Amino acid sequence: MQDSNVELKTIGVLTSGGDAQGMNACIRAVVRCALNKGLRVMGVRKGYAGLLKGDIIEMTAGSVANIMHRGGTVLYSARSKEFMEEEYQKRGAEMCRIFGIQGLVAIGGDGTFRGAQALSRQGISVVGIPATIDLDIPCTEYTIGFDSAVNIVVEAVARLRDTAASHERCSLVEVMGRRCGAIALWSGIASGADAIMIPEDKESQSFEHLVRMVLENRARGKNHNIVIVAEGVGHAEELAVRLHEITGIEPRVTVLGHVQRGGNPTALDIKHASMMGVRAVETLCSGKTNRLIAVQNGKYVDIDIDEGLAMTRQPALDIWDANLKISTY
Ligand code: F6P
Repeated sequence: MQDSNVELKTIGVLTSGGDAQGMNACIRAVVRCALNKGLRVMGVRKGYAGLLKGDIIEMTAGSVANIMHRGGTVLYSARSKEFMEEEYQKRGAEMCRIFGIQGLVAIGGDGTFRGAQALSRQGISVVGIPATIDLDIPCTEYTIGFDSAVNIVVEAVARLRDTAASHERCSLVEVMGRRCGAIALWSGIASGADAIMIPEDKESQSFEHLVRMVLENRARGKNHNIVIVAEGVGHAEELAVRLHEITGIEPRVTVLGHVQRGGNPTALDIKHASMMGVRAVETLCSGKTNRLIAVQNGKYVDIDIDEGLAMTRQPALDIWDANLKISTY
């Protein structure tokens, strides 16, 4: 841990892992808040991979102007396998010292926090900010980027519904989320999906359940279907083939992929990104390290990274249950 007697003069900020809408707004908040407190701010480009290479630039108030509404990350992002090894973590801490970085704000997902945790063990003060479209970090009710991604899916499904209805097809939409079904659940209920398939729940994944939902709705007079498949369940294309074999209904598959990670962040994402960025700088300034900014019971808090990473995630099955009650036509 950084010696609390040493005055904090310079902090760094990086984005790591999969990018998420709102990362730029978060960088802006960190930089502006720190500058307003009289700190110097260094931007580490390309996450931990860039840190190891010393790809570090000084940030000014102007360098974060006109970025808050843009997707992507002006600091670039990367997933660094090397940084999982202690040898490289020591090198990363050394690089921080060379550039005078006493405290680091690391914006990203759980891999990013593991990297931050390692740097903290090497004597660099760190605070993590959860940013991933997946909403898969158990200790926080919100991760930056989630709302933007969900809205992209909902908009896409509205378009797909038009053409599915014209051709009386079943539209299967594969959405991101790695091993987490949050995007599928939220976008599914918000777009009136007939069925939502998520990796955390056996019943939702059951092919029999899918066939039943589709056929029951057809029997009630619905001429098309929308099925949201979380990527962690498997390939929507394979489900579509089986569904066609059993029901004869013509399927079409859309894999939304990285479309979900691009474009402007929603107001909700910009708000969370700004609030968390400010809170992260204040946390570093208060002398704390190995902390993680989280939303808990609707409030911004900072918690120990080790404790945060040890928590387990519960899927929002209440959304799945509610959708089941309203998705029958
Ligand atoms: O973690 C965010 C995420 O978009 C996941 O939903 C997805 O599985 C993964 O990243 C894709 O990773 P990449 O951008 O490296 O292909």
